[in-house]
Amino acid sequence: MEPHPSLILPSLLAADWGHVTHEVKRAEQAGARWLHLDVMDGTFVDNISFGPQMVQTVRKNTGLYLDVHLMIHRADHYLERFIKAGANNITIHVEADYDTSVAETLKRIRAAGLHAGIALRPHTPFSAALPYVQDIDLLLIMTVVPGFGGQPFMEAETMPKLAEARDHRDANGLSYHLEVDGGIYTHTAPIAKKHGANLFVCGTSAFGHADMGQAMHDLAASVA
Ligand code: DX5
Ligand code: ZN
Repeated sequence: MEPHPSLILPSLLAADWGHVTHEVKRAEQAGARWLHLDVMDGTFVDNISFGPQMVQTVRKNTGLYLDVHLMIHRADHYLERFIKAGANNITIHVEADYDTSVAETLKRIRAAGLHAGIALRPHTPFSAALPYVQDIDLLLIMTVVPGFGGQPFMEAETMPKLAEARDHRDANGLSYHLEVDGGIYTHTAPIAKKHGANLFVCGTSAFGHADMGQAMHDLAASVA
């Protein structure tokens, strides 16, 4: 596989949770390879979504790669539960509180054999990621303020940072994926790709579409 393939990741936040197993199959049939799962604690972000039990339910119903985005404080305290639930990648926020530290949490994720990511809110500078860039598989640049789906893409605030993250990676022999999350549609995904993104999280534009196969096809074509 090329080092940074362009992939469209449907975000379960926009799925019909009354029919989760059906929704996971819908994503599979639409051609998804990775699924994005947003965990929110009502404190780090102003919304509450789901926890490890949902991750486990999804895992039981699919072999898709599960990309778990923790928008929570104390991710280190809850970590084992998400590992046991069957996550493949766990992304934690640099702005959140930890009993230990971001570095220690990343170390534990990787020691468990998972991929590890860090996420930056739209207004957090790339410099906040610098202490961790050697120790991550993925850097998530939030393109909306985390907490809700359906918000507009914050181009001016986030694209220079994305390009900075790409340039730093390429100049230093690093290899992390660059993921964008929030407001990704066929007209914004190419902008993010131009600035370095290769993983495109799509809630409204994927699960929110009646014909998800067509939506995924169009999204993939927009970043091909
Ligand atoms: C936002 C979440 C996103 C969300 C994106 O806090 O992290 O993953 O599902 O939703 P859309 O694609 O609708 O902006
Ligand atoms: Zn997310």
